[in-house]
Amino acid sequence: MARPLIFAANWKMHHAPVQAIAFVRRFLELDQPVEQRTLWFFPPALSLATMVDALHGRWDAQVGAQNVYWEPKGAFTGELSAPMVRDAGGAGALVGHSERRHIFGETDAATALKVQALLALELKPMLCVGEQLEEREAGRTEEVVSRQLSAVLSALTPEQGARLVIAYEPVWAIGTGRVAKPGDAAEVHGFIRELLRRADIAVRVPILYGGSVNVQNVAGLLAEPEIDGVLVGGASLDPDAWARICGIGA
Ligand code: PGA
Repeated sequence: MARPLIFAANWKMHHAPVQAIAFVRRFLELDQPVEQRTLWFFPPALSLATMVDALHGRWDAQVGAQNVYWEPKGAFTGELSAPMVRDAGGAGALVGHSERRHIFGETDAATALKVQALLALELKPMLCVGEQLEEREAGRTEEVVSRQLSAVLSALTPEQGARLVIAYEPVWAIGTGRVAKPGDAAEVHGFIRELLRRADIAVRVPILYGGSVNVQNVAGLLAEPEIDGVLVGGASLDPDAWARICGIGA
């Protein structure tokens, strides 16, 4: 039996509702549900409810937000909350994406609060971790990933930690066309797996790789047993390319 794989599309600030509907229409022509393969779509918040609607009936597909604030409601202009995501039919959210951390100044402490807010509502947090180029070159990859992960895990019980999905996304590989070598990515995945084990998380938390994944390199990455799926930005925007990527898990 094929092993479980996750294919997650992070659309970032692309695909408003009209384009999202056109995307799904084409994608559904090309792709059929497959046992053991889960698809996630992270559209902009404006398109979230549209995507839930458009993917209705696809038991293998989930829709999530790209970010949430940790308070359930209130005077927080421009934010959206975990209860709102759930009410709109969303099943989870990205947390701590490198663009949130490095463009919008999101801290490790904020990622921990966001993960807790999602878990409290039975929503799936997809926690993104990863080092910047200078950190990798200085040999600090493990230190950075460990800090980002422990900020979240230290606030959770092992049972809560077991409900995470983790995405390892080296910042230097995101949107640059410079994908990590499968072996290098797998090494960091192994390190993350060890951190989870040390946190007494017994179940196999999926660890995805993200950063310049495309049709050409996805099979090589997924050939690594430590890589449980992919989180894809640019190459997930085109339905034909995305269907080919997801087809690797079929
Ligand atoms: P990319 O983005 O595939 O365009 O590199 C990945 C991400 O930011 O999640």
